[in-house]
Amino acid sequence: MNQNNMLYIGGISAEELAQQYHTPLYVYDENKLTDKMDAFVQLFKSNRFDCEVLYASKAFSCVAVLELAHKHGMCLDVVSGGELYTAKKANFPMERIYFHGNNKSIEEIKMAFAYGIGCIIVDNVMEAKLVAEIAKTYNKPMKTMLRVNPGVEAHTHEYIVTAHVDSKFGISITRMDEIWEVVSTLNAVENMEFIGFHAHIGSQIFDAQAFKAEIETMTQFIANFEKTYGYRATALDLGGGFAAYYTDEDAPIPLPEVCKMIIDTCTQEFERLQLGIQKVMIEPGRSIVAEAGSSLYRVGFLKQTQSKNYLFVDGGMADNIRPALYQAKYHADIANKMNAEKTVNYTVAGKCCESGDILIKDILLPEAQTNDLLVMYTTGAYGFSMASGYNRLLRPGVVFVKNGQARIAVKRETYDDLVSLDCGENES
Ligand code: LLP
Repeated sequence: MNQNNMLYIGGISAEELAQQYHTPLYVYDENKLTDKMDAFVQLFKSNRFDCEVLYASKAFSCVAVLELAHKHGMCLDVVSGGELYTAKKANFPMERIYFHGNNKSIEEIKMAFAYGIGCIIVDNVMEAKLVAEIAKTYNKPMKTMLRVNPGVEAHTHEYIVTAHVDSKFGISITRMDEIWEVVSTLNAVENMEFIGFHAHIGSQIFDAQAFKAEIETMTQFIANFEKTYGYRATALDLGGGFAAYYTDEDAPIPLPEVCKMIIDTCTQEFERLQLGIQKVMIEPGRSIVAEAGSSLYRVGFLKQTQSKNYLFVDGGMADNIRPALYQAKYHADIANKMNAEKTVNYTVAGKCCESGDILIKDILLPEAQTNDLLVMYTTGAYGFSMASGYNRLLRPGVVFVKNGQARIAVKRETYDDLVSLDCGENES
């Protein structure tokens, strides 16, 4: 929303948010967050099999967002003890949690049993043996699945079906004996139930055909596996990867379309191959939270070089590593000059001691001044969750706004927080 040249997020002016909560600041429009959650849960439905939407909390995990995910009917994907602990603190129902990861520790696996989570998604043979061993010491039910690598890789606009067998994640579907070893190891333990297979083919996927190829490959694999070993899978988890809109180069597949395509393809393939799948899961992370989040920065110094106009902001790669790490592109505005003519081509740079700390390489903006506010859009996924403390910059706060009201979701770090775990010579 835009009034008198000023950007409003969730009914509050960007300037008011910046003054009250300091910059840099992650701001989430709560209605946008919950609309996305509702849309996934509503659209991903079938009358032939159960459907579950797992929020992949790696995209953005904190108590407040997990509370919303639960309230809006989602299950949860966690990949570490830390993400699991956050879910516990958010009172997320444990039986709705799926635990991923290629190298879970003994402590993490024990934590999963102690908390009584719904399902451990095992990644390799060694893990299967460890989970089976630990399971015997807990008298608790636990479902398990196995992550397999179907050799379908999606890269934004394209996908390839390869014999890509060297991924660090999961077991290649070409290694049937190894997969059987996992299934039989896990199923041999009383109280444990192996329910089926999981795959995840990539992130920021624009091509619906990639999901179709994934489903066709996975269902064919399940049919072959069943024929060879007699094991009948009841669950199929297709992972995440649904794209978000960052800049006008991006055209995510509309949600109704991609959900329908997944449901239709599953229905068709389950029927054709006579599979016994009763539950299908997806695990969106980015597409739930990316577009609901923006970052607010205060403009500091401006500097001209021979060919660049630098605009420096009070954050950078410490609060958003994605441009430096993936050359990710973002759109931005000067939040207090929303209607001004865009006349200057800027390079938006952060304040970290690193030449690669460039947030946006090239962007046309109105002429900027110190103390203007820069808003960078679509920073809601993998921004906060991949933030670092580089240069001992303070981690920004996270604010949720809704209908003109703001609430703190994560407090901004203080200098005392920064040294709170440090031990000097005479401390331990
Ligand atoms: N499920 C599994 C098993 C995954 O590995 C991932 C993401 C997801 C679900 C969620 O995928 P999404 O819907 O968010 O695409 N840091 C990178 C993204 C890494 C994604 C890793 N796995 C980035 O900032 O682009």
